[in-house]
Amino acid sequence: MMRQQIAAANWKMNLTYAQAEDLLNDLLLSPHALKPHQSVVLAVPFPYLSLAKHKVDGKAGFFVAAQNCYTKKSGAYTGETSAEMLQSMGIEYVILGHSERREYFNESNAVLAEKINIALSYNITPIFCCGEPLQIREAGTQNSYVAEQLKESLFHLSAEQLEKIVIAYEPIWAIGTGKTATADQAQEMHAHLRTTLANHYGKEVADMIPILYGGSVKGSNAKDIFSRTDVDGGLVGGASLIAADFGQIIDALK
Ligand code: 13P
Repeated sequence: MMRQQIAAANWKMNLTYAQAEDLLNDLLLSPHALKPHQSVVLAVPFPYLSLAKHKVDGKAGFFVAAQNCYTKKSGAYTGETSAEMLQSMGIEYVILGHSERREYFNESNAVLAEKINIALSYNITPIFCCGEPLQIREAGTQNSYVAEQLKESLFHLSAEQLEKIVIAYEPIWAIGTGKTATADQAQEMHAHLRTTLANHYGKEVADMIPILYGGSVKGSNAKDIFSRTDVDGGLVGGASLIAADFGQIIDALK
């Protein structure tokens, strides 16, 4: 079975409503001939989910994602958004554990395990982010650091549950810095992550999990990075805000 390949846009906290509408129109204007195993996922800010959902309606292979959800089902949690709300409006994916949420909103591996559980219980596919800061990379301990993130947030899942997860490896030193990991560095970590999954869940399960690379992916470097065996696409910040650039990234899927 061919593993799913994904070009995912993470708009983060950018764009006005009118700009979001323009970007969606531009993106959907160019015909991308997606193969059955290829998908495009657009993680837009909460206020634009409905707009994005409406725009991608009927576009095969295009999906909409939220950038976060809360741990609880519903209730008095002012300002939060539940997985149930997302499901009720047909949202298929949610980014969980982005390094910006870990850093600025103190999301721990344990909290992320709870978010993974609630997203899965509403049939929303988590795009689970992991990745090491610069000082860990410099110390050469990135493999154990990232494996720990996986273990603490995912390894309580059954194999059937894990099969619904997408992983995004985003080395923090490569996010928004223009300093992308080399294709070799990405492949090395992705292979390590897949082996970590295989050791716990078996090779067959590990081979089914898409592992995306994120960190300064652009139209110009996507093809090289995506060409590697264990790199199944990308999670893209800055370049996903430019229709032409993101279009090139979609076309770089293998
Ligand atoms: P950039 O592509 O802007 O480096 O951001 C990567 C990222 O954080 C995607 O989630």
